[in-house]
Amino acid sequence: MAKQEDLFKNVVSHAKEYGYIFPSSEIYDGLSAVYDYAQNGVELKKNIREYWWKSMVQMHENIVGLDASILMHPTTWKASGHVDAFNDPLIDNKDSKKRYRADVLIEDYAEKLNQKAEKEIEKASVRFGEAFNRAEYETTNPRVMEYLSKKNSILARMGKSLGDGDLADVKALIEELEIADPETGSKNWTEVKQFNLMFGTKLGASADTAMDLYLRPETAQGIFVNFLNVQKSGRMKIPFGIAQTGKAFRNEIVARQFIFRMREFEQMEMQFFVKPGEEMKWYEYWKTTRLNWHLSLGLGEKNYRFHDHDKLAHYANAAADIEFNFPFGFKELEGIHSRTDFDLKAHEEFSNKKLQYFDTEENKNYTPYVVETSVGLDRMFLSVFATSLKEEELEDGSTRTVLKLPSVLAPTKAAILPLVKKDGLPDIAKQIMADLKWDFNVAYDEKDAVGRRYRRQDALGTPFCITVDHQSIEDQTVTIRHRDTMKQDRVAITDLREIIESEVSMKNWLMKIGK
Ligand code: GAP
Repeated sequence: MAKQEDLFKNVVSHAKEYGYIFPSSEIYDGLSAVYDYAQNGVELKKNIREYWWKSMVQMHENIVGLDASILMHPTTWKASGHVDAFNDPLIDNKDSKKRYRADVLIEDYAEKLNQKAEKEIEKASVRFGEAFNRAEYETTNPRVMEYLSKKNSILARMGKSLGDGDLADVKALIEELEIADPETGSKNWTEVKQFNLMFGTKLGASADTAMDLYLRPETAQGIFVNFLNVQKSGRMKIPFGIAQTGKAFRNEIVARQFIFRMREFEQMEMQFFVKPGEEMKWYEYWKTTRLNWHLSLGLGEKNYRFHDHDKLAHYANAAADIEFNFPFGFKELEGIHSRTDFDLKAHEEFSNKKLQYFDTEENKNYTPYVVETSVGLDRMFLSVFATSLKEEELEDGSTRTVLKLPSVLAPTKAAILPLVKKDGLPDIAKQIMADLKWDFNVAYDEKDAVGRRYRRQDALGTPFCITVDHQSIEDQTVTIRHRDTMKQDRVAITDLREIIESEVSMKNWLMKIGK
């Protein structure tokens, strides 16, 4: 566990040191759970967003995009259920005065049981080698079975208590499990209470006429209220989707774990409108399609798992999370929900406007059902960044820190380095940069010994270093060094574009999805 915590601390400090993420308004000591994306972070984030957008919108002829406003008519949030039910159960520790999410305390406890089971499974897999059958071991080894069954029964009880609004039982569970304040160890808890997560604001200049508004807590409602506008103006035929990326705001009670749980974050959501009765087919389609999108980035199949919800929200008839193995354990990365016709019907009722689709094949009107995919951009960022950060021991006994980002997402694709700052080498390097910058984000660096510059680019996650040396003057060749293998090839300057393109082109990566 200590090792995992160290790894996570490294992630946070590396993100700051190499210009990926800074605490917001740091000169004023920051703002809790709000972060700024720095010069490299903004590029990585943009690339993740683009990779999502292209795979969803460009690659699906029946999905179109939208950019709805953050501020929406307040009735939106009444209709969606957020005003009445967008609550988290909170609990305070009477000694430390710290506030926690009761469900997160219990989930963390359950995750520890899961990790214990995983440890046993891993040990057994080493012991049995090729012959190891994980599924059989999970269902026959008494210790693993005990851990997993305890975990499942805790989560099931919590799900039921929260679903029934039985907050006293949530507290009872915390006490029975002897869960302590993670920071102080105190078990002196208050009752569990509900807390609405929406941020309020005001529209209008004068205090008496100002209208109370909310900052949107999800982007999805912007899609629902525009359903008919898009359908009619785009002549969309069911099944079709509307995709959107953008900021969402939640006054999270416990905001920790860096950019995993923020108060201002970005979502990438898609609502897929289908014929009632066909939603389960599309739900399965989107579960597979979205998992394949994640897998295409090459962060390792074992880092993902589905968590099918036992207890469904009142509007859903199926729901699953894609969980990722973050440095603090498996946690939700993306949600895929079959939301029935709940949202469109609710907006119809509250707005008194018909939000139905006329199906020309069936010659009738109906309210479409919706399958939603919703992934947090910041959580995607964290999954990619944390998994890519490696400390490697080299053959000569030294170590290097390398950020093995999927090259398609790397902020800078190549760094161009003149071996020395003289003899015309910088001029050649700058000319290479001037040629390549039309196609890629490239950087130029002439400071320090070339070995140190390689290390810096490794830590920044740059897939290629191009070194201009004295031979370059003779024969217009350079060396190209590959970040992951550190292998260097001598190549013609005129071939550089093609070599880089073949590695980083979004098209090549998108073509891998589902293969
Ligand atoms: N429209 C559905 C919806 O908003 P959600 O599970 O509340 O569902 C979807 O959020 C995704 O948004 C999550 O899977 C997560 O990746 C991301 N997310 C939610 N709250 C977040 C927060 N406070 N900070 C960062 N990401 C968050």
